[in-house]
Amino acid sequence: MVTADWLDIGPVDQLPALGARTLPVQGGEEIAIFRTANGSVYALLNKCPHKQGPLSQGIVHDTTVTCPLHNWRISLVTGEALGDDSGCVPTIPVKIDGGRILIARKEALQGVDG
Ligand code: FES
Repeated sequence: MVTADWLDIGPVDQLPALGARTLPVQGGEEIAIFRTANGSVYALLNKCPHKQGPLSQGIVHDTTVTCPLHNWRISLVTGEALGDDSGCVPTIPVKIDGGRILIARKEALQGVDG
């Protein structure tokens, strides 16, 4: 059900498997929305925890994205850097409803602060 707590950001069909799109939010930040090979959708702040690389331009494998700048691997589920690297990027809850992608409004707006 669509409520005021969720933002409808468009049809899931427009996000190809292994693809990503971005969504500008207030404060000049962006959220990156990813779709995995099995169709799951995740949203993260579009900023690598290393040096702010644009994660939306990275390559998706399973539930990770590889940063395009220095190849850190970031979990789409937790936002944490994997392997020997450490750092964490805010994640935003996502759900699919009636073929539409919904993201949590509160976290989407809070993500820009932290
Ligand atoms: S900015 Fe992402 S790995 Fe360096």
